[in-house]
Amino acid sequence: MKIVLLGPPGAGKGTQAAKLTELLQVPALSTGDMLRAAVREGTALGKEAKGYMDSGALVPDALILQIVKEFLQTPACANGCILDGMPRNLKQAEALDELGVDIDLALSLEISDDEIVRRMGDRRVCPKCGTVFSVTANPPQKDNVCDKCGDALIIREDDKAETVLNRLKVYHAETEPIIGFYRAKGKLKTVDATQTIEDVNKALAGAVGL
Ligand code: AP5
Repeated sequence: MKIVLLGPPGAGKGTQAAKLTELLQVPALSTGDMLRAAVREGTALGKEAKGYMDSGALVPDALILQIVKEFLQTPACANGCILDGMPRNLKQAEALDELGVDIDLALSLEISDDEIVRRMGDRRVCPKCGTVFSVTANPPQKDNVCDKCGDALIIREDDKAETVLNRLKVYHAETEPIIGFYRAKGKLKTVDATQTIEDVNKALAGAVGL
């Protein structure tokens, strides 16, 4: 099963993708995580992507499509995959079709902008292993320390209040139209993302037929 996870920045796509990979036993690709790793490692991709990411803009489609093509060709994707953060605009959604990637289901996490702004203020991430926490909904066992690898947690560069507002603007202008794209194909299911992390996960599991 090939699944696309849709939703505004901070809706919980990464949190739920990690849980769905375990439930479905298929890999997930987070284009955001891959880009952040490239920035950390100082690769050519990272150097090109950084400015766009820091301002909350989308990284050029050609760079994203290259990452996704490589991921989809890996043997791990033979039984399906989860795309978290891609497609991000209609051009990327159409490019998946052109590549012959048959998306079975688009799961849209629904949440208001006000709730997003609050969530982003609470998010802490591990710069080493990428694990995501929330100081309110999903706190680490020890303040500001990653449960998995013990590194000090940080606030993501693009979680600054003014950047979050720009990311929301970009989401509504460029990404939201994808909801209609998949609805028209009869592949869209929506889930209330304001529930607890566990309840959102149960709703998503139901949506994929588990
Ligand atoms: P990306 O990393 O994809 O950012 P995003 O879509 O803005 O999503 P986030 O990672 O911010 O949030 P999320 O929905 O995964 O939520 P999370 O689970 O962390 O992209 C970053 C940048 O890369 C983009 O701005 C762009 O520049 C570039 N980029 C990436 N993909 C691209 C593409 N395809 N094309 C072009 N550019 C691209 O949860 C958020 C917080 O809420 C956490 O603290 C979490 O613990 C908490 N939380 C989660 N669920 C709940 C819940 N149910 N209740 C309470 N709290 C919750």
